[in-house]
Amino acid sequence: MAQDDVFKKVVAHCKEYGFVFPSSDIYDGLGAVYDYGQMGVELKNNIKNYWWQSMVLLHDNIVGIDSAIFMHPTIWKASGHVDAFNDPLIDNRDSKKRYRADVLIEEQIAKYEDKIEKEVTKAAKRFGDSFNRELFCETNPKVLAEKQKRDALNERYATAMNAMDLNELRQIIVDEEIVCPISGTRNWTEVRQFNLMFSTEMGSTSDGAMKVYLRPETAQGIFVNYLNVQKTGRMRVPFGIAQIGKAFRNEIVARQFIFRMREFEQMEMQFFVRPGSELEWFNKWKETRLAWHKALGFGDESYRFHDHEKLAHYANAATDIEFRMPFGFKEVEGIHSRTDFDLSQHEKFSGKNIKYFDPDTNESYTPYVIETSIGVDRMFLSVMCASYCEEKLENGETRVVLRLPAALAPVKLAVLPLVKKDGLPEKAREIMNELKFNFNCYYEEKDSIGKRYRRMDAIGTPYCVTVDHQSLEDGMVTLRERDTMEQRRVAISELCSIIQDKVTITSLLKKLS
Ligand code: GAP
Repeated sequence: MAQDDVFKKVVAHCKEYGFVFPSSDIYDGLGAVYDYGQMGVELKNNIKNYWWQSMVLLHDNIVGIDSAIFMHPTIWKASGHVDAFNDPLIDNRDSKKRYRADVLIEEQIAKYEDKIEKEVTKAAKRFGDSFNRELFCETNPKVLAEKQKRDALNERYATAMNAMDLNELRQIIVDEEIVCPISGTRNWTEVRQFNLMFSTEMGSTSDGAMKVYLRPETAQGIFVNYLNVQKTGRMRVPFGIAQIGKAFRNEIVARQFIFRMREFEQMEMQFFVRPGSELEWFNKWKETRLAWHKALGFGDESYRFHDHEKLAHYANAATDIEFRMPFGFKEVEGIHSRTDFDLSQHEKFSGKNIKYFDPDTNESYTPYVIETSIGVDRMFLSVMCASYCEEKLENGETRVVLRLPAALAPVKLAVLPLVKKDGLPEKAREIMNELKFNFNCYYEEKDSIGKRYRRMDAIGTPYCVTVDHQSLEDGMVTLRERDTMEQRRVAISELCSIIQDKVTITSLLKKLS
């Protein structure tokens, strides 16, 4: 299936099965804002629990907080968001569509990369087992030509972005002959800066309302609380603070479903370390976070690091963990070595001493910070895309199955009476009532058993049990596994022990330790 089709199907599936709905649906939606339905919220909570527990349970030097969305406006001045949290925008005069200039250029770079990849795939097919990718990339004239164009563009782009040279960004778009995908023309306006923060007013206007912002990242809530937590929790450097919460950005180019939203959720962890040790910790956190992703079992080849060549002025290392989405490798998580920039800025702007006193060395210093920052919604999208599968069965039918890792599945077990009579529903309810304290169970008696299995496959339920007349006699039920569709008779009394270990977050956490 073409990757474009996969993506469209995932989006439609999310709506049809109660995972994600457009916000304000009956009013035709609100741009780049989405609601999670009855299945979506369970999957989302499981992703959040997996992250939270991997941070807070598996590390005795990491604790969590939950800070407010509204914060003192000076915080955003100190962090640089008021002055520099901008996107460079450009309009096409014919289609009247607005684009991010940097995104247009990055898409052009991706086009060169696609061309290289196509040449490599063609050659790999032609040469079979004897194909040497590295040698081919170093010697093939077509690949070398595309690489040269890509590298030149990359360099020019990085220089323009570093200097925030808006004229040069426009010139690159013109020189690369980038056209508007709607009008097909190159009739571009100038490039302008646009701040991404939403603002509102706090207090009534008569007593002088204060302009406040909806936080564009959760991280600042951690920075301004770091000393409260350190002192009250008697934490010693190195230590970390984790937080999950909403963030808001007035994204101009909001596309690709829940990939880029205006209201989204982040899971961020700031790790406070001794100055000088930050790059060692940066590398440790890179490996730790990649292992967290890989433990989900979607295949190691689905991930790659994208180390930043262009670093923000306050960072001394940064990388993204990218996931292979149907629309290419895309950032799901950022890992940044942010030096002491944020804490020093807050010290300067608040006028308070927020240095850490190190009892091991008897000195005070501003800790350096490694940040891991992952979007819940992007993670959700990557899980849905990797799990969605259309399978041809032996009988010629097609089934849609969501191969979710069992620990993330919204429903762990469906309990299905074969028929709606003869005491089978009562027996099924009895099983539900026993198991519902251990994991999320779902009861369903409507439609044929085959249809009910299909419905459970489509929402990713790893196990179904069918209660039949024989069950009333011998206390056994048919247990069906989602992926293999294998069925076997098991004792009702054994259900919990067979299923429990495989569906809890602990099963994932154990792979990490
Ligand atoms: N505190 C650092 C920070 O916020 P970021 O790279 O801007 O860094 C971190 O964002 C993560 O948040 C991204 O990797 C992405 O997963 C998620 N994210 C950022 N903007 C988003 C948006 N508009 N919609 C959905 N997720 C977003």
